[in-house]
Amino acid sequence: MFPPFVLLIFGVFMKKGLFLTFEGQDGCGKTTQINLLIEYLKNKGYEVVLTREPGCAGLGEKIRSLLLDYDGEVSSVCESFLFLADRAQNVDIIVRKNIEEGRIVISDRHTDSSLAYQGYGRQLDVDRIDMLNNIATSGLKPDLTYIFDIDVETSMARVGDKKDRIESAGKDFFDRVRNGYLEIAKKEPNRVKVINSVDSIENIHKQVVDLFVELEEKLLK
Ligand code: TYD
Repeated sequence: MFPPFVLLIFGVFMKKGLFLTFEGQDGCGKTTQINLLIEYLKNKGYEVVLTREPGCAGLGEKIRSLLLDYDGEVSSVCESFLFLADRAQNVDIIVRKNIEEGRIVISDRHTDSSLAYQGYGRQLDVDRIDMLNNIATSGLKPDLTYIFDIDVETSMARVGDKKDRIESAGKDFFDRVRNGYLEIAKKEPNRVKVINSVDSIENIHKQVVDLFVELEEKLLK
């Protein structure tokens, strides 16, 4: 824990807040870890805002329901654009504003979900999804992205029988999604950190905190 004067100096240097994203296959356990990190950050004196994709407050909730609850045939390109539309809304209405006001914004899923699920999973062109992500976010990048890696058998067992449209896509799809996430981490090792998600909640939380502290120290230098 930093003493208040260090946090003050940190605030001066930081000028703006931070943007953290949490990623991983369905059933990877990221929700538990998001809640623990938020508690840790608030105890440290940070103001934290949690958002999610799909489904940030307001219009995002309607896009989420279109994406997850519709049970007819869906074109992969249509699916991609709906996720991207939701992302633009999240970034423009919630993320950017809160970062500029000095808060730590945590997004439960963001650009890497489109790369992993629509690019690698649905086998659309990954470079094109990357370009569309940049349009949706106007180039805003997370300061740190956590990927919770887990084998597909365990993650599917955790999701159970009550699956939404995307969770019903099958094992081959989720093998590609997992592999996609690992590829993303290889391409951007500074921003993207992989955490083995088959471990105790406490051990995983410790790794999440250590990576955050590393980022804090980098920004202080
Ligand atoms: P959600 O219930 O929020 O899942 P989780 O709790 O695992 O985050 O559902 C979001 C689903 O949408 C999830 O299956 C991942 C998928 N998704 C994409 O396919 N592409 C995207 O760009 C995003 C943001 C999510």
